[in-house]
Formats: sequence, C-alpha cells, structure tokens
Amino acid sequence: MSLISPSILAADFGNLQRDIEMINRSEAEYIHVDIMDGVFVPNISFGIPVCEAANQHAQKPLDVHLMIVEPDRYLEAFRKAGAHIITVHYEACTHLHRTIQHIRELGALPGVALNPHTPVELLSDILPDLSLVLIMSVNPGFGGQKFIENTYRKIEKLDRMRKEMGLDFMIEVDGGVNTQNAPKLTQAGTDVLVAGSFVFSANDPLATIAELKRAAQ
Ligand code: DX5
Ligand code: ZN
Repeated sequence: MSLISPSILAADFGNLQRDIEMINRSEAEYIHVDIMDGVFVPNISFGIPVCEAANQHAQKPLDVHLMIVEPDRYLEAFRKAGAHIITVHYEACTHLHRTIQHIRELGALPGVALNPHTPVELLSDILPDLSLVLIMSVNPGFGGQKFIENTYRKIEKLDRMRKEMGLDFMIEVDGGVNTQNAPKLTQAGTDVLVAGSFVFSANDPLATIAELKRAAQ
C-alpha cells in the first residue's frame, strides 16, 4: 500500500485554502509542497510565505520538496513555515551529509531527491541517515509531464538496497503519477505517491485521491 501526497503545485492558487481543505477531507496522508527557484529548475513556483499560508490550513503534514540551489540557507525558514518532511536534491548539495544532519536537528524528517539521470547507488553511504528518498519520475520543474518508465527499475533497485541494509526509509515517487502506473509503482516498493495534475485537473479531486489510494493498495 502506498501513501498519497497530493502536490499543491497543481492547485488553484487563488483558492489555495479551498484546495488544502479538500486534501484535509481526503484519504491523502501528506501535502506535497514544491519549491522551485528558477535556478536549479527552469521554473519558479512559490516560496516560504506560501508554505506558511498552506500550513495554516493544513491538517496533514507538509512534505516539502526543495528544487533549489543552496538549500542550507533556507532549511530553518521552511521548518518554521511548517515543513514536516524536508527533501533536498542530491544534485544541489555538495555537503549532503551536513545538510541531512541539519534537517534532523531542526526536528524535520530528511529526504533526498534524485533526478531521473542520477543512479540510486550514489546514495549508499547516506541511506542510513535518511527518512525518505524521492525518485523523480519526470525532470523536475513542471507538473503535467510524462512518466519516465525507467523509474520502476530504480525503485526496485533502491528497495533491494533498503532490504539488504536493513533500513526503513520511505521511497517516494514524484511526476506523472496516475491510477495506471500506481499499482506497478507500489508493487516495485514505493511507499508514497505524489500526484499533482492527475488530482487537480480531475472533475472530482476528492474522488480521484480515493481512486489513487485504491490503485495503490
Ligand atoms: C515536478 C514536481 C512535482 C509535480 C508533479 O517538478 O516536483 O511534484 O508537482 O506534478 P504531476 O503529478 O502533474 O506530474
Ligand atoms: Zn515534487
């Protein structure tokens, strides 16, 4: 069974409170918050004040995905803005071990995200320190992109490493997730499914989250 983390990147920003309250009522476990800086990724989403505003209405933990360079500069601010999980990109962190320890010291759960081209093997020495690994199944920067099929192999490999090392970090998949690929992703070892456009472009987002949950049993 996978947990569901709807991404508010695809929400109606003019009605953010309404959309967060929908997630509160839904079967989702987390609220995924995508932070883009226009440098690490070719797009800007929103920043700390919007994260804080979302947190004021959220009744579920914020799962914050930082697609930014130099994330160390903002960890404390995002923690104060309500982040429960803070995920940084492997490709954006020169001193990843230090960054992960810092997130833990702040009282949040540390995660590391991998771009589609980054092999899971590169994480072998940091896995014992992580609460979550986020596998990008699209190139980060935009919602609504096509799911990259190689993702299944990466999840299976990471799940194998997790078992061999006797660890219990969560595996999250982000990008192009829908009810078609959810069963196979769960089967491969995924614990958390992020879904943006599939949820928010649906006529009935609440029912769509429930369908995703069923598909990820
Ligand atoms: C992409 C973001 C994703 C995005 C997913 O850079 O990290 O979380 O919101 O959107 P969908 O589900 O539409 O691919
Ligand atoms: Zn994301």
